[in-house]
Amino acid sequence: MKRRGVTVWFTGLSGAGKTTISKAVEQELRERKYLVEVLDGDIVRQNLTKGLGFSKEDRDENIRRIGFVAHLLTRNGVIVLVSAISPYQEIRQEVKSKIGDFIEVFVNAPLEVCEQRDVKGLYKKARSGEIKHFTGIDDPYEIPSDPDVECCTDLETETESVAKVWQKLQTSGYLD
Ligand code: PPS
Ligand code: MG
Repeated sequence: MKRRGVTVWFTGLSGAGKTTISKAVEQELRERKYLVEVLDGDIVRQNLTKGLGFSKEDRDENIRRIGFVAHLLTRNGVIVLVSAISPYQEIRQEVKSKIGDFIEVFVNAPLEVCEQRDVKGLYKKARSGEIKHFTGIDDPYEIPSDPDVECCTDLETETESVAKVWQKLQTSGYLD
């Protein structure tokens, strides 16, 4: 039986946990021999969308290109895990409509928590003005109005977050 593809789209602030959760879901899927691919903003920006910055136009272009590739893979039966801040509601909606088989995961942690974590030291740089247009500091993040899954990474464990995503994949009929 051919497995159905789907795009699982992780959106949220820098440091919220998008990469962490998507990598963990990827591992679970691979162990069970599913076809899976990860498109992570940080990595995609080194190749597919190299040269794009963080203006609204560039972010939208980044998301459109990621969405295009995710669509190609999804329609060929792959489970695609996208982790990108994707701060703008309109483009998220556009990509969702195009792909169809789509699960939106809001990786939600308060800005204070993300800033406290500051895994890459980017918030510090944003606060000092070294980095401009940093999401949540001096650039917007539009909260998803109706996400399929919400992971509150300041309140739940990584395992709990992964389980939520897994359950959604299951109840939506993408797992066997
Ligand atoms: S977007 O908005 O969806 O196009 O962004 P994305 O492709 O996910 O890239 C976000 C990563 O780029 C780093 N970074 C920034 N993030 C937000 N704002 C600014 N100005 C910025 N500059 C660099 C940061 O490492 C993001 O990675 P994550 O994994 O989200 O922390
Ligand atoms: Mg990341």
